[in-house]
Amino acid sequence: MKILTGFLLGLVATIGAAGVYVYSGTFNVAAVEPHSALEAWVLNIALERSVRARAQAITPPPMPRGQQIGQAFRLFDEMCTQCHGAPGKAPTMVGKGLNPPPPSLSKAAERWRRAELFWIVKNGIKMTGMPAFGPTHSDEDLWLLVAFLQRLPNIAPEEYNEMAEKFGQSGQSRQPQHKH
Ligand code: HEC
Repeated sequence: MKILTGFLLGLVATIGAAGVYVYSGTFNVAAVEPHSALEAWVLNIALERSVRARAQAITPPPMPRGQQIGQAFRLFDEMCTQCHGAPGKAPTMVGKGLNPPPPSLSKAAERWRRAELFWIVKNGIKMTGMPAFGPTHSDEDLWLLVAFLQRLPNIAPEEYNEMAEKFGQSGQSRQPQHKH
């Protein structure tokens, strides 16, 4: 009985302290304030476990064919680079101001399997700037993007620029097109 009373009192005190913490405005929601090490650790584990569990039900289709690279490039360049940057390109002011910061995507294919990348891009990541593209794009386009992410580590800045010339570009990386 004593143990149970102690446990309940402890629980009430913890909930009370959490309530005071939240209501008093102690937590700083400013994006310029980095997450504490503890918050960053908890959020990272939550992200990792959540994505891995949910992506298990997804079976990736066969890899898209080589000639779809132009479409894959355009999707990536339009949808992702303002926040994540691209080979040889820094993120725009939007990407630079986000917290957590959008990581460079060159390592994304090492960290995540295809189905997991697809899940992230389709569903987004809550409470971060990472948007869900499922509401606006077909699964087919999203799988093309995933295939592009897998190629990204091998794309040097010069090759990225050549692709931009060849396949057309938009958004932040728009540059005058010179016809020779
Ligand atoms: C408006 C900004 C924004 C755009 C646009 C955006 N992202 Fe993100 N993305 C983020 C942020 C912020 C995170 C970091 C989330 C975190 O650390 O929890 C993120 C995280 C990710 C991750 C997980 C990275 C990792 O390994 O931790 C992947 C994969 C990803 N984005 C892919 C994409 C792709 C592909 C596109 C384009 C289709 C895209 N994102 C467009 C903001 C953006």
